[in-house]
Amino acid sequence: MPITITILAIESSCDETAAAVISEGKILSNVIASQKVHEKYGGVVPELASRQHVQKIIPVVEDALKGGGVSKKDLSAIAFTAGPGLIGSLMVGSSFAKAMALALNIPLITVHHMQAHIHAHFLAEEKPKFPFLCLTVSGGHTQIVLVKDFLKMEIIGETIDDAAGEAFDKTAKMLGIPYPGGPLIDVYAQKGNSHAFEFPEPNISDLDFSFSGLKTSILYFLKEKISQQPDFIEKNLNDICASVQRRIVTILLNKLEKAAKQFQINTIALAGGVSANSSLRKEANKLSDQLGWKLFIPPIEYCTDNAAMIASVSYHKFLAGEFAGMDAAPVARMEWENNV
Ligand code: KG4
Ligand code: ZN
Repeated sequence: MPITITILAIESSCDETAAAVISEGKILSNVIASQKVHEKYGGVVPELASRQHVQKIIPVVEDALKGGGVSKKDLSAIAFTAGPGLIGSLMVGSSFAKAMALALNIPLITVHHMQAHIHAHFLAEEKPKFPFLCLTVSGGHTQIVLVKDFLKMEIIGETIDDAAGEAFDKTAKMLGIPYPGGPLIDVYAQKGNSHAFEFPEPNISDLDFSFSGLKTSILYFLKEKISQQPDFIEKNLNDICASVQRRIVTILLNKLEKAAKQFQINTIALAGGVSANSSLRKEANKLSDQLGWKLFIPPIEYCTDNAAMIASVSYHKFLAGEFAGMDAAPVARMEWENNV
């Protein structure tokens, strides 16, 4: 009888403790516990994140196994996010995964978090055909990736400083919006005029991005306006959010359009937390209609961090026989694997 490949995947790179079960490429369960403790600090506090992972990892894994209707003895491998991410947070997931693989005497699989974001597309009914370009935009990364196969990917452009998600979150912090600011900027922006204020588009060569200049220009803009009108933010919050969001979205889509032309590829995908942004989704759809792209945007729950995407990568690594040793260590700044 053929063996069924069933894998438990664990994600703990930042402030989400997540576990999923995948069997023969099909997701059976996908459990996420988000950490609320960081809200009052305006950003993720690494030490608190690690402690929360320690508290949540056992119940989250138990829920994933139960939800998937599998027991530990059904598992063929344990997968975990090895990086990039917060080192303390990654250590919790990796130690747990190793202990479990050792106890069950099954193989271990390491997963690159950003490659996993792209795999959100392989969980949907309709999957993009290779090769395609993926704009991967998260809290820590902004990349355009040429996706040649499930595990063969090449970064063709990336940010030289801040990530797009960081630009959203840091703007939110300047505006006094609680963490995570990105989703709230999106909400306020929907009620504002996106042409109320003009922010500069950076002049960066090739397919790379930069967001640090935008951050500085927002800071100086706000300082100047507040010096003239102390309640400027309060009075103009929706318009500021809409204008900043428009600039971030145009920076992203201009480079994506350039990449599509340069590589002559019209199958285009968005991935990562920022691809949950309503304006990015809307504008990408408009551009896609204009340029005749075949556009793929994952459902919102697969845009932000989850373990189902980790499970998808691990399934393909299992098929390819790419297992990790028990000495596999998590890395905060993980180099792109399988960069072919
Ligand atoms: O991929 P993700 O969940 O975690 C990382 O791997 O970083 O991305 C989180 C980022 C945060 O910066 C968050 O503010 C941003 O995604 N984000 C959004 C939206 N939803 C999440 N940014 C703008 N609009 C949204 N709707
Ligand atoms: Zn992520």
